Amino acid sequence: MDSAIGMSTTFDFDSWVNQQLARVESALQDWVSDEAVADSEHHAPAELIAAMRYAVLDGGKRLRPLLVLATFDAVCGGLCEDYLSHEENADEAARRGAPDGVARSEKPSIAALRAACAVELIHAYSLVHDDMPCMDNDVLRRGKPTVHVQFGEAQALLAGDALQALAFELLTPDDASVGAGRQARLCRLLARSAGCAGMAGGQAIDLASVGQYLTESQLREMHKLKTGALLQASVMMGAACGETTQHAKQALLRFGAAIGLAFQVVDDILDVTADLATLGKTPGKDAQHDKPTYVSLMGLAAATAYAQQLKAQALESLAGSGLVNTQALQGLTHMVVDRCC
Ligand code: IPE
Ligand code: IPE
Ligand code: MG
Ligand code: MG
Ligand code: MG
Repeated sequence: MDSAIGMSTTFDFDSWVNQQLARVESALQDWVSDEAVADSEHHAPAELIAAMRYAVLDGGKRLRPLLVLATFDAVCGGLCEDYLSHEENADEAARRGAPDGVARSEKPSIAALRAACAVELIHAYSLVHDDMPCMDNDVLRRGKPTVHVQFGEAQALLAGDALQALAFELLTPDDASVGAGRQARLCRLLARSAGCAGMAGGQAIDLASVGQYLTESQLREMHKLKTGALLQASVMMGAACGETTQHAKQALLRFGAAIGLAFQVVDDILDVTADLATLGKTPGKDAQHDKPTYVSLMGLAAATAYAQQLKAQALESLAGSGLVNTQALQGLTHMVVDRCC
């Protein structure tokens, strides 16, 4: 029971989060490293790997990886459980058989961990570029000097590029742990959410909107693209690591859309209400840069009420999904909207 997030079941959300964070941190440590990217002939330049590791490790809430893993838990509840508990034991797995749609050689929990880390790499790359002087010109991120301040603009640009490429490498291991069809589906989901119809497109609208008045629907569209798309993709990638009904898939899409938009509404609010030490980045930048935000459009109280409304929508979508194992997703929904950093 975790009273802090208002849940009434016996599910221990805090220990679930701690367990998943430990897996994600350790995987990122391993995968964003020269040992992981080098082959017999090539090593990555030390300064570039250092900038990539600086951007990714030791910081961040890891919300997107947690969403991938929580959704994977939700879709695998009762479906993959037997298979997963024996996936380290090939004979037992073969005897029991894999769930429908999952080849026997596949390791769904490895696919989910790879997907979780891949989304975080795209997110980390987006932050590196977002902070550069040509975009938001921020000097502090995750409580540290930003990557371009620490390593220079050219290395920051390249670190972002390389993190983006590494994300797709993670999704395409050359063993049988993630089937070819699943690799393709994961790559498509991530590419679509990061590209011109997702994060990059939203960032372009954000930059073009400085000093402009946006209507609520224009602002919503911008937020859905620049931030919401990657959060929604995190949910759908977790689902793509298991098997879902069409009904559950539609409900997860609605859930991801609501939580994705809520996340950026809260980011806009925190830019006004939180302090530097708590945020780990400089507050007040949106107003300073004359960026349209939910706070500038509707005021603090209405923006806060809107975030709560989106939280209710997200929880309602989960409740109607037909999925049983959604406690971690519910906990993350509260975390997204009621966070203080
Ligand atoms: C900040 O994202 C940038 C946005 C998309 C609004 P997060 O608040 O998830 O940043 P970290 O990963 O915790 O540092
Ligand atoms: C960033 O939005 C969205 C990204 C795609 C990185 P913001 O510019 O509001 O993020 P912060 O406030 O700098 O973290
Ligand atoms: Mg920005
Ligand atoms: Mg910014
Ligand atoms: Mg912001």
